[in-house]
Amino acid sequence: MAGKGMRAVLQRSYGSADTLQLRTVDRPAVGANEVLVEVHAAGVDRGTWHLMTGMPYLVRFAGFGLTKPKQAIPGLDVAGRVAAVGTGVTRFAPGDEVFGIATGAFAEYAVASEHKLAHKPSIATFEQAGVLAVSGITALQALTDVGKLRAGQSVLIIGASGGVGTYAVQLAKALGAEVTGVAGTAKLDLVRSIGADHIVDYTREDYLDGDRRYDLIVDIGGRNALRRLRRALTPTGTLVIVGGEGGGRVAGGVGRQLRAVLRSPTVKQRLTTFISKEHHAVMERLAEFVKSGDVVPAVGQRFSLEDTAAAMAALQAGATSGKTVIVVRGSGTRADA
Ligand SMILES: NC(=O)c1ccc[n+]([C@@H]2O[C@H](COP(=O)([O-])OP(=O)(O)OC[C@H]3O[C@@H](n4cnc5c(N)ncnc54)[C@H](OP(=O)(O)O)[C@@H]3O)[C@@H](O)[C@H]2O)c1
Repeated sequence: MAGKGMRAVLQRSYGSADTLQLRTVDRPAVGANEVLVEVHAAGVDRGTWHLMTGMPYLVRFAGFGLTKPKQAIPGLDVAGRVAAVGTGVTRFAPGDEVFGIATGAFAEYAVASEHKLAHKPSIATFEQAGVLAVSGITALQALTDVGKLRAGQSVLIIGASGGVGTYAVQLAKALGAEVTGVAGTAKLDLVRSIGADHIVDYTREDYLDGDRRYDLIVDIGGRNALRRLRRALTPTGTLVIVGGEGGGRVAGGVGRQLRAVLRSPTVKQRLTTFISKEHHAVMERLAEFVKSGDVVPAVGQRFSLEDTAAAMAALQAGATSGKTVIVVRGSGTRADA
């Protein structure tokens, strides 16, 4: 497969969405434990935006390229058909429908490690599966492995209308929790439609005033101070900090996560954070929720590969709801030879 051409979005320097350009390049070659995916849909997420801008600088020091991105084609979330497999791949064969996390998903073909791919649930469209992995596995781990959610508990999801949040709301409901979702005015209907029991508009209400207390807070947006978050937790409740935009140019909002981890051993509440593990085992757990109908990816805006820069700009402007998808091949379209 390597050597044949494909259309791909290229990013030769860190910067805004204007740095993205559609070009024709060689298809990538697969290594022994890698899979070449014929991309049908690719998801847009905050992680990809950080890798595009190189901000905060921590991203650059984390090995993604000090002065320019090491990976010239952006894009992580992917869904498509297996086009070729490396010699060591045992779980996939050409033709399989897959979803997961790739390297360079904003292209007609992308390579993924075998352990970062799972079989696509047949109930899901490529567009839905293309926005599933990155945010879905983060939400699942936040609630279960890290948050230790139990049925009957009350959960506050701050940032319920976004990529991670729309999965967190649906998964928490499926796990038997009473769910309160926090979002901005324009997206409250979305949060209601995906099953939240209660919705809060962060532009109008102080949902952390302590009037209502939660067994678990999943903190995805807004970067509230630790002190305020603790006020809305039960005396032995758990805070899971997933992320939050803004903060300094060097480390972003990471100081809040560090303070939570340092504070936790000194209080009865559990204050924690995590970095999502990108492994097929958690993708397969997530896929079960999709198969059962408990989780339906909240696909928001759709863009073509040519319009990837506009998709990234919309994400940065906060103009997206749920997950934005880049539709690389229309459903049912045969791959190029
Ligand atoms: N720990 C990990 O492994 C991991 C994995 C994935 C993502 N993340 C991080 O998690 C964060 C969210 O990612 P995402 O993909 O869900 O982003 P997103 O799609 O942009 O969603 C952001 C959410 O935050 C809400 N929000 C914005 N300002 C707020 C405020 N002042 N108060 C309360 N909520 C506010 C937004 O609500 P409206 O749009 O309704 O205003 C939206 O629901 C990012 O920082 C990302 O880097 C971490």
